[in-house]
This record gives sequence, C-alpha cells and structure tokens, in this order.
Amino acid sequence: MTAPIEKTLLEKPRRWLVTGAAGFIGSHLVETLLNNGQFVVGMDNFSTGFRSNVDQVPVWVGEAAAQRWTFIEGDIRSYEDCVKACQGMDFVLHQAALGSVPRSIKNPLATHQSNVDGMVNMLLAAKEAAVKRVVYASSSSVYGDSPALPKHEEVIGEPLSPYALSKRTMENYSRIYASTLGIDSVGLRYFNVVGSRQSPDGPYAAVIPRWIEAFSRGNVPVINGDGETSRDFCPVQNVVQANIRAALCAGNVAGQVYNIALGGRTTLNTLYKLLRDGMAERGAPCAETEPRYADFRPGDIRHSHASIARAQKDFGYDPQVTLGQALGMTMDEYLASHGKSSSGIDEA
Ligand SMILES: NC(=O)c1ccc[n+]([C@@H]2O[C@H](COP(=O)([O-])OP(=O)(O)OC[C@H]3O[C@@H](n4cnc5c(N)ncnc54)[C@H](O)[C@@H]3O)[C@@H](O)[C@H]2O)c1
Repeated sequence: MTAPIEKTLLEKPRRWLVTGAAGFIGSHLVETLLNNGQFVVGMDNFSTGFRSNVDQVPVWVGEAAAQRWTFIEGDIRSYEDCVKACQGMDFVLHQAALGSVPRSIKNPLATHQSNVDGMVNMLLAAKEAAVKRVVYASSSSVYGDSPALPKHEEVIGEPLSPYALSKRTMENYSRIYASTLGIDSVGLRYFNVVGSRQSPDGPYAAVIPRWIEAFSRGNVPVINGDGETSRDFCPVQNVVQANIRAALCAGNVAGQVYNIALGGRTTLNTLYKLLRDGMAERGAPCAETEPRYADFRPGDIRHSHASIARAQKDFGYDPQVTLGQALGMTMDEYLASHGKSSSGIDEA
C-alpha cells in the first residue's frame, strides 16, 4: 500500500512552482501543498483565473502556512517570466493553459500561444533552473476520434479540436525534450475534473458549475446532444494526489503520460439527475426540472472512460474521493460561497 501523500510531504519540505495557481485545479494544489508543510510559488496572468483564489490562500491554510506562499503575476508566454518563476524550485506543477474546446475553435492562436508556446517556455526554463521534474496537465481530449474504451494511454486517435491538438503537442514536446535534452517532465491526462472553485460564468464554463448555478436559480440546464454522451468525471482531490505522487515518484517517468480519472463512466443524463436531486435536497427550486436538449457541440468526444492502471502501477495513484462525494462537496461549496439568499434558496 502507498503511503498517504500528507505523510510523504510532511517528511520533507520542498519548493514547488504551481502555474495556473489562480485557477481551479492550481488553487487546490496550492492549498494542499501549503497545508502539508511545503514552500509554494504560484504564477498566473489571471486570463481565466481569479485574484480571489490568490487572496484567499491565507484564509484556506492559515496565516502561518501562508508564510510559505509567494505569488508572481506572470505569463507563461514570456520565457523570462518562466525563468524567474522556476528559480530555486524542486518541482513545477504546470497547470496554466487556456482550457475549453469551443474557446480553441473561436481563438486558436490564443490557445496555441498559452498552451504550446507556454509549455516550451516552461520546460526550457525548468531545465535552466535545474528543476527536478515538471508535471504538466494534459487532457483526455488527446484521445480524439479513437472509439476504443476504456482509454489506454498508448491508443490515441486524431485530435478533434485545436485544444486537443495543443495538448497532444505538449505531450510530444515532453517526450522529445526528455529523450534529446534530458528534461524530466511527465503528463497527466485529466478527464473531466470536478470540484469547488470552478467558475460557472462565461461562455466556456464547464458543465457541472453551470448546471449547479442553473438549478440554484430554478433555471433549466441545456444538455448538448441526447444526454447519452458519457464522461469519466474525476474529483479534483484525486488530481491533486496524482500530481504530487507523479512528482515524487522514484521511477523514470520522463516523457510518459498517464490517465487521471476515476476509471468509470457517467452519462450527462445521469449527471443531470444527480445534480438536480442533490440541489433539490439542499433547498433549490429544481425538483421537477427536466432538461432541454440542444445540438451536439462540434469537437466534443462522444464517450470517455479511462483505464487508470498505468498511474496506479507507476506511481501508486489511488483515487480516494468518489464522484458522489465530489458533487456533494461542490454543491455545498457553491451554496456557501454564492450566498443562499442570492440563489433564492433561503427565500423558498
Ligand atoms: N478542468 C478540467 O476538467 C480539465 C480537464 C483536462 C485538462 N485540464 C487542464 O488542467 C489545467 C488547469 O485547468 P483548470 O480547469 O484549473 O483551468 P483554469 O482556467 O481554472 O486554470 C488555468 C489557469 O491558467 C492561467 N493561465 C492561462 N494562460 C496563462 C498564461 N499565458 N500565463 C499564466 N497563466 C495563465 C489562467 O489565468 C488560470 O488561472 C489546464 O492545463 C487544463 O487544460 C483541465
């Protein structure tokens, strides 16, 4: 059995750079690392992240732990910013990127610059600063048009969107820089990540926060397609664990990629019911709400279901938080942070 990450971290404080620290996943990484005795530098340009995720750090971890936290406002499209941020770091957890398939179709240049140029800058800066390992966020979108289920790392299809192409290109740089330049970086292919602090706002918001917000207001969420599209939703706590284990594992994982998910599959129709019933139990005016169906979105994958065997074997990935727990925590956090009265729930 693998030791809990808390124990492994507390045994030895290390220096971590978290890029995308003002975002959803980055902010959870920062919080866990600080809560377990680590020194953390966060970097972000606030293009999709929030200043509140930086300002709230002392509230989440306490003033004492926040003494070990530094934030740099910087842009991964700038090599100089990356070099500055990497100075003195043991590990880089590279989360900064522009997410969303529709965004990448609307603005492919911005996606390329942050995701691909940003990755190249970060890898080369990490080498210059003698960082031990970079763990970077890849995505299940690299499976593209491959119909194979479950998804095994070595069987990928052609990318279906500029976003997917950018993530696949990041993986190629990682592999080729490992073999030619000796840069140790490892990719984690996240499947749809679930948790608090994911923004419900804007045209590129993820489905879970958007639906939670809609249910809280008694609005009817829209399902793209027939609702039988499925996803392997992954609690953010499991993603955090995977990053830390991948960084600290003793084996040679340079240039490798790993699926990070629950290893299951949930349809959008099922997700809809779980969230509707969960929000109704919490007092939202949505008990009878039936979904509206709209067209499929271009570039979306039909089904996604990961094999997580490789991450389990190579670095002891052990997803401990279930989807039900993650949805419950996310709904509770949404109601706590958005104020019950603004959602209308208290007034019911
Ligand atoms: N959330 C998911 O379900 C999911 C799934 C697969 C992969 N990923 C990947 O995980 C990573 C984190 O995603 P997230 O959901 O936390 O997204 P997010 O948008 O909440 O966080 C990304 C952060 O990166 C920052 N950023 C973007 N471009 C930057 C730049 N040029 N310089 C500096 N900072 C920049 C943003 O401001 C933001 O704070 C991304 O690489 C994303 O592609 C996420």
